[in-house]
Amino acid sequence: MAIILGIESSCDETSASICIDGEIKANIIAGQAVHAKYGGVVPELASRAHQQNIIPTVDQAIAEAKIHKNEIDAVAFTRGPGLLGSLLVGTSFSKSFALALDIPLIEVNHMQAHILAHFIEDPKPQFPFLCLTVSGGHTQIVLVKNYFEMELLGETLDDAAGEAFDKTAKILDLPYPGGPLVDKHANLGNPDAFKLPEPQIPDLNFSFSGLKTAILYLVQAELKKNPNFLTERIDDLCASVQSRIVSILLNKLKKAAKETGVKEIAIAGGVSANSGLRESLIEMGKRYKWNVYIPKFEYCTDNAAMIAIAGYQKFLIKDFVGQDIAPLARMPV
Ligand code: KG4
Ligand code: ZN
Repeated sequence: MAIILGIESSCDETSASICIDGEIKANIIAGQAVHAKYGGVVPELASRAHQQNIIPTVDQAIAEAKIHKNEIDAVAFTRGPGLLGSLLVGTSFSKSFALALDIPLIEVNHMQAHILAHFIEDPKPQFPFLCLTVSGGHTQIVLVKNYFEMELLGETLDDAAGEAFDKTAKILDLPYPGGPLVDKHANLGNPDAFKLPEPQIPDLNFSFSGLKTAILYLVQAELKKNPNFLTERIDDLCASVQSRIVSILLNKLKKAAKETGVKEIAIAGGVSANSGLRESLIEMGKRYKWNVYIPKFEYCTDNAAMIAIAGYQKFLIKDFVGQDIAPLARMPV
């Protein structure tokens, strides 16, 4: 039997998970409300909140999994990419925990873990599969050849898809994190109400900064004509923006599927919680005869279950690290 403790602290979620023989028995996530009033994550405050949350979060995961901490066989933690101050808390905690219990330490790449969240529950994708990983900091199309053998086929040249959602929300005076709110308003609006540009980027790369500027100019121009524009048209605006972000993402995914011939198609990361993206991907999958894999909501946004499951796979091949390990703000997939 193998019991893995997973720790995630790369951004503003402190999370601990227990994985027993590849099955997730607990996945506790402590969010940080402190950032809402600043309109974005404040790194120093995130780091402090992780320090406060980490021990209670781990205690709760251990209690929920109904195990004793002495039964844990290894600690897997997010080494990067992410905010350095936040990563330091999870890394230091994990190193101390491993040292105290004299158990192995496993480093996990956060972006790989988002993808490996697909191995938490059935149905699981077959290798090789394509994964569109869309989060607050990243937008990538990855060819996943095996658990830890991944090839980056395309990525954003500027903003991430999550940032495009969050920055749109900011322009529309919605609080942070705006992605889920844009999604909610979009469900009530007309996606064809406003015409927004689709950038012409070669290859499988993305760009979202032009879209952000187009939204800003559109809102400024409309507000001059009608000061109540935002309140009156927020649903249509959100629906139009969401529809454009989804089409940018899925057109590239379609291109990647065509170029590679791969028909196992997955999405991952916080933006994969978006209802428009989920629905459109299912439709596209039917049209192109893909097998489509969409994570459960709780495994889309940051969580330690994905760290624990990635850690379990590394535990099986004894891929451990020493106490000299340090977190990395940047880390390729
Ligand atoms: O993966 P994640 O939790 O954290 C990072 O590693 O960045 O992703 C967070 C991002 C945020 O930008 C958030 O606004 C976005 O995911 N997000 C959504 C939705 N839920 C979360 N974006 C659009 N629609 C959603 N329903
Ligand atoms: Zn993430």
